[in-house]
Amino acid sequence: MFLQIETDRLRLRLPQEADAEAIVAVNNHRAVFDMTVGMPFPFTLADAHEWIALVLAEARRGTTMDFVIELKATGEIVGICGLDAISREHDSAEVHYRLNPAFWGQGIATEALRRVLRFAFEDLQLERVLGRCIRGNDASAQVLQKCGLKYEGCTIHDCKKNGVYHDLLWFGIIRAWWLAE
Ligand SMILES: CC(C)(COP(=O)(O)OP(=O)(O)OC[C@H]1O[C@@H](n2cnc3c(N)ncnc32)[C@H](O)[C@@H]1OP(=O)(O)O)[C@@H](O)C(=O)NCCC(=O)NCCS
Repeated sequence: MFLQIETDRLRLRLPQEADAEAIVAVNNHRAVFDMTVGMPFPFTLADAHEWIALVLAEARRGTTMDFVIELKATGEIVGICGLDAISREHDSAEVHYRLNPAFWGQGIATEALRRVLRFAFEDLQLERVLGRCIRGNDASAQVLQKCGLKYEGCTIHDCKKNGVYHDLLWFGIIRAWWLAE
């Protein structure tokens, strides 16, 4: 399956086996693990291969669409951004993204997420996109709001990491708001 979308600086495409080491470099950081749910830490090469197989299988099923983020200038993989929980029943999905910390603070997540939202609304013709982050992840909340998602509320102790419960902040955008942007 081949799928690729672009922005000024970035190329977003489905992962391939050869990306495994770069995917470890994105995920294997305490600072990334602490702000995300559902990925192990440490994140090993075996985890990366398992993740790639899962992403490709789910892309074929149409349930998730996970892109690696590549810098056009260098071809380097700097992060991951995509959609999961894609529901054709409700025309909805959830966004997620993570970057190798070496590339934080350059507007890359915002640029990638804007493009993924365009993919969601134009290509997949979705009606609603959800974004959630752990309370305290101010950079992520900022990225979501810069991309037009609006704060919807908070679920208390929604996830547990290392024995600690965390609240999740919910943000959403619907098609009409995206078209108006
Ligand atoms: C969240 C993450 C993807 C942001 O990536 P990024 O490319 O640095 O984000 P951007 O540069 O596009 O935008 C970050 C914004 O947050 C702001 N920001 C960064 N740290 C912040 C903080 N501690 N408090 C408040 N705002 C903060 C930046 O100033 C910027 O906003 P601005 O453009 O209005 O100044 C990155 O920090 C990351 O990978 N974190 C770990 C994984 C994660 O949290 N994923 C999201 C799970 S919901």
